[in-house]
Amino acid sequence: MSSSFIILIILLLGVAAVAVAASTEGSRAFFVFGDSLVDNGNNNYLITTARADSPPYGVDYPTHRPTGRFSNGYNIPDLISQAIGGETTLPYLSPELRGPKLLVGANFASAGIGILNDTGIQFANIIRMYKQLEWFEEYQRRVSSLIGQQQTQVLVNKALVLVTVGGNDFVNNYFLTPITIRRLQYNLQDYSQLLISEFRMILQRLYSLGARRVLVTGTGPLGCTPAEIALRSPDGQCADEVQRAASIFNPLLINMIADLNKELGSDVFVAVNALERQYDFINNPTAFGFVTSKVACCGQGPYNGLGLCTAASNICENRSQYAFWDPFHPSEKANRIIVQTIMSGSEKYMAPMNLSTIMELDSRA
Ligand SMILES: *[C@@H]1O[C@H](CO)[C@@H](O)[C@H](O)[C@H]1NC(C)=O
Ligand SMILES: *[C@@H]1O[C@H](CO)[C@@H](O)[C@H](O)[C@H]1NC(C)=O
Ligand SMILES: *[C@@H]1O[C@H](CO)[C@@H](O)[C@H](O)[C@H]1NC(C)=O
Repeated sequence: MSSSFIILIILLLGVAAVAVAASTEGSRAFFVFGDSLVDNGNNNYLITTARADSPPYGVDYPTHRPTGRFSNGYNIPDLISQAIGGETTLPYLSPELRGPKLLVGANFASAGIGILNDTGIQFANIIRMYKQLEWFEEYQRRVSSLIGQQQTQVLVNKALVLVTVGGNDFVNNYFLTPITIRRLQYNLQDYSQLLISEFRMILQRLYSLGARRVLVTGTGPLGCTPAEIALRSPDGQCADEVQRAASIFNPLLINMIADLNKELGSDVFVAVNALERQYDFINNPTAFGFVTSKVACCGQGPYNGLGLCTAASNICENRSQYAFWDPFHPSEKANRIIVQTIMSGSEKYMAPMNLSTIMELDSRA
């Protein structure tokens, strides 16, 4: 073998090593926990009715095929990955999530789940929060066998984490039927307190598993979804009692997060006030380019708010004119506005700071 050939190989190997170093340094891992607002396909692998794996879901996704995301196109985690310059994370249950792909992060979310284990029981086999956290531990063991325990801890400490959960504890538990066990046990205030104290333990567990930058979204305006308007509001206004739940839960969450950060002595958790942001486009849809925030793009019945979004549903022509894609879930366009707010929103939306400030701080650390 000629010596110049050997030199060439050495040079190429050197370039490859630099490329690997740059890619692990340039982007941080991203972990996602929660419900259908952030599930990107885990439920496809489960026996459950909570799924988005048939058309027209995914109609505006690059492949134009359903993926398990509850959106016409990208969902919130996809858009956060894009904003921080990372690859899209794979669902934890995807067989493609192995080897170096593990270093990108993972999405543990599962449609239908809530803070409480008894939320979403009607969906049977879904991954509840405690299980998502167990799998996060399992994930770390898998990564350790790849890059060692110390490097795994660095990867997790430096990662960005998103937690979106809580809405189902109201709509798929407390308010699911006119009489529910939870409703007999608790008034709305006490039920919200219960959720917050359980949520606090979930966040503490995440911290003990190494998470150090965690975006925590409150619930959206639950009473203003096409589903709740169709079900409970003959006049088309946001459904009062469900809306009241969101307006009790969200401020409690913001306080709990501030308190937890104080206890930890560090701004680990960031409260995303999705409620405020979504109110903006519910109160003034045209300011955001929407023709409506009350009618779902895909569905049937009043406000397209009844039943599921399927190939047999009414489907709007231009998806970006609708704040809601289906009776419960925002359209890609609405998700973009929410993620823009996460990136650069003021204190009204992001407490104690927005994601661009976090990125700036962390790049100096
Ligand atoms: C949910 O169930 C798991 C496993 O049985 C248990 O460890 C956990 O404490 C439960 N969580 C709540 C909020 O009840
Ligand atoms: C869809 O609606 C958006 C927002 O109103 C508009 O900018 C866009 O041009 C429309 N697209 C089509 C194909 O009509
Ligand atoms: C959020 O981000 C923008 C930069 O995009 C910055 O100018 C602004 O001051 C930040 N707001 C807060 C409250 O951190």
